[in-house]
Amino acid sequence: MKTVIINGSPHKNGHTAALIREMTSELNGEIKQYNAYDMKIGACIDCKYCFKKPGCSIKDDMESFCNDMENADVFIVASPMHFGIVSAPLFTLATRLQRYWPYKNGKRNIPDTLSPKVGCLLMTTGGKWVNMELLSDGAVNFIFDHTNTKTLGSIYAYQTDCNAADTQLDVLAEVRRTAQRINGMVSEKSFSY
Ligand SMILES: Cc1cc2nc3c(=O)[nH]c(=O)nc-3n(C[C@H](O)[C@H](O)[C@H](O)COP(=O)(O)O)c2cc1C
Repeated sequence: MKTVIINGSPHKNGHTAALIREMTSELNGEIKQYNAYDMKIGACIDCKYCFKKPGCSIKDDMESFCNDMENADVFIVASPMHFGIVSAPLFTLATRLQRYWPYKNGKRNIPDTLSPKVGCLLMTTGGKWVNMELLSDGAVNFIFDHTNTKTLGSIYAYQTDCNAADTQLDVLAEVRRTAQRINGMVSEKSFSY
């Protein structure tokens, strides 16, 4: 089982990293982690290269990320909430997943080599308000859709300004349960995108 995790937090040992640690403590197999703040990635420039060929005209750190993600069984997206959505570097990375849209929507005949994946969103927020998940869940659903990832939903550690994510035991337990569910689904190949 191969897992790719993208972390959108600037803090290597922050709240989002605490949720990722819990997830990786349970997940089987090989795990590759990327941090959007360490990657050199430009935003999509809508050049329409991917309308003609698989891939992207911009050659940057997206290439190795996409190679790993395209062959993974599991894809975990993790981010702090910034301005109601994922962090800016992660959002920039998301725009570059547009390369997978043309084939999925019939604009190009040559397919991408995207494995079916299962995954989820791990999110941390400093505060909490009604429906605060709408923008972040919506944007990350684009990520899962573009990458052939069946999502098991999102797990939020709220109000990290008052309660550190690594002290929210109910949330950590939910993360571990989701990891175990993912292990089972991949070993039984009981999901399709
Ligand atoms: C630029 C910026 C914007 C933020 N916007 C929000 C927000 O919209 N809603 C919220 O609840 N917290 C917001 N926060 C707080 C973070 O989501 C919170 O501190 C998070 O748990 C940090 O996770 P990390 O330690 O993994 O970076 C923001 C923080 C920053 C730096």
